[in-house]
Amino acid sequence: MSLLRQPILLLARSDRVKRLAETLPVASRMVAGYVPGEGVEDAVAAAAALSTDGLGVSLDFLGEDTRDRGQADATVAAYVELLRRLSERGLHHRAEVSVKLTAVGLALPDDGPGIALENARIICRAARNAGTTVTIDMEEHTTTDATLGILRELRKDFPETGAVLQAYLHRTEADCRALAYEGSRVRLCKGAYAESEEVAFTDRLEIDKSFVRCLKVLMNGQGHPMVATHDPRLVEIALVLASRNGRPRGSYEFQMLYGVRPEEQRRLSAAGESVRVYVPYGGQWYGYLMRRLAERPGNLSLFVSSLLSKK
Ligand code: FDA
Repeated sequence: MSLLRQPILLLARSDRVKRLAETLPVASRMVAGYVPGEGVEDAVAAAAALSTDGLGVSLDFLGEDTRDRGQADATVAAYVELLRRLSERGLHHRAEVSVKLTAVGLALPDDGPGIALENARIICRAARNAGTTVTIDMEEHTTTDATLGILRELRKDFPETGAVLQAYLHRTEADCRALAYEGSRVRLCKGAYAESEEVAFTDRLEIDKSFVRCLKVLMNGQGHPMVATHDPRLVEIALVLASRNGRPRGSYEFQMLYGVRPEEQRRLSAAGESVRVYVPYGGQWYGYLMRRLAERPGNLSLFVSSLLSKK
């Protein structure tokens, strides 16, 4: 991992840094590079444009770690409205949604997991009615068991619900084995949070090796692997593993973030691969932006100059 990654993620927890960063308008160069806008219209417009280019989309209404029931319910309402609009615009064939359980109540003091499950069910039902699917994002390791437990419950009624596993966690190869069954959509990513050596690989090479081990399990299994990385070496390895396992195109997909390596997204798609772009939108972009900054410390100077100029 970059030497700056953990310090940036830790600094991002400071309220002062958060208050300062939130003075940036969403249209500032730094924010707009990763987030198309705050409103549902911005999200639908971004989905429409990507879809016209032949790309799939997973939309994320930004927000996480809510301690407020009203805010959790408002997030659910935002997803239901988004799904209705996607269906109206005929975008449901290409666009699904990604949901963070802490945005819909997982961290609430009284029965957070129960509330998050019920809220996630409402979103899954709305997605089903709109003709599309939900993927449950993965957050800090303290939430992994609860998230996978809720996923298991959701899949009883909505087996199409996607999971996310993070290659940096020691446990993940075993989780991949457990989730590599028929119909199981699993997004594999490196992992974006500040985790300790007790639970996670922290060395870049070790994370990459774990990613390959996990990918081998998923590609060799019966599910639908979603390879979420911008790392050119891992993309190449995924293509080799897919071919070695006799997987036809469309039985797995690549996923990348909005604004990150867009030319590579289009190159893979033009080569006949399924590619889905993760598109976050909404006003609560702070946590998301800080994780992107931690992955790309080279952007620090852009961030600071954006803060100074407020552009
Ligand atoms: P790596 O960070 O090594 O980057 C490889 C190359 O990609 C870099 O050299 C650079 O060229 C480019 N790049 C990467 N990040 C960039 C950035 N921010 N700006 C510009 N260029 C950049 N994590 C998580 O913990 N839970 C989750 O649910 C998800 N969900 C998710 C969905 C999707 C579709 C993606 C692509 C990623 C996630 N992630 C995630 C984030 C993931 O864990 C990881 O932090 C990032 O994808 C960066 O890791 P890479 O695999 O891209 O490799």
